[in-house]
Amino acid sequence: MDVAEDMHVVSMSVNGEPVSRSVSSRTLLCDFIRDDLQLVATHIGCGEGVCGSCTVIIDGQPARSCTLLAVQAAGSSIVTIEGLNPDVGLNKVQAAFQEFHALQCGFCTPGLLATVHSMVEARLPADDDTIVAHLSGHLCRCTGYVNILKAVRSLLAENAAT
Ligand code: FES
Ligand code: FES
Repeated sequence: MDVAEDMHVVSMSVNGEPVSRSVSSRTLLCDFIRDDLQLVATHIGCGEGVCGSCTVIIDGQPARSCTLLAVQAAGSSIVTIEGLNPDVGLNKVQAAFQEFHALQCGFCTPGLLATVHSMVEARLPADDDTIVAHLSGHLCRCTGYVNILKAVRSLLAENAAT
């Protein structure tokens, strides 16, 4: 196939800003986000949909950007970890991760923060079955989940109380 014929202009919203780029039909969304948009806080671990490191929020739902093509995300609204950062200080998910020492390694953390942010937005209940089910797509290679669970329990319990 002629390479020029394989290019498509994709438009979407990323972190509240409209973006439009010409990409190959084979470009993965994670590569589009990191390489074309230079939003490198989205990490790539396994590259095959297992570890959760590449998670971004698409139309309000956490999704693995390594298993989607950029062209499949055309027209959607994407939030990356950069889009969750406040101008000053920490957002409440970051603050809870800091308080409970759940900020472990830099590899898995961005994806976890994205998923937990969407859990908080959805006002999920603070029970362990719900939390574990929603975090089951995130694999830790090195530390464990105890402090992450503490942080998420606290966030969801705080939500339920307000
Ligand atoms: Fe996407 Fe592991 S890099 S799930
Ligand atoms: Fe990040 Fe284990 S992979 S803390």
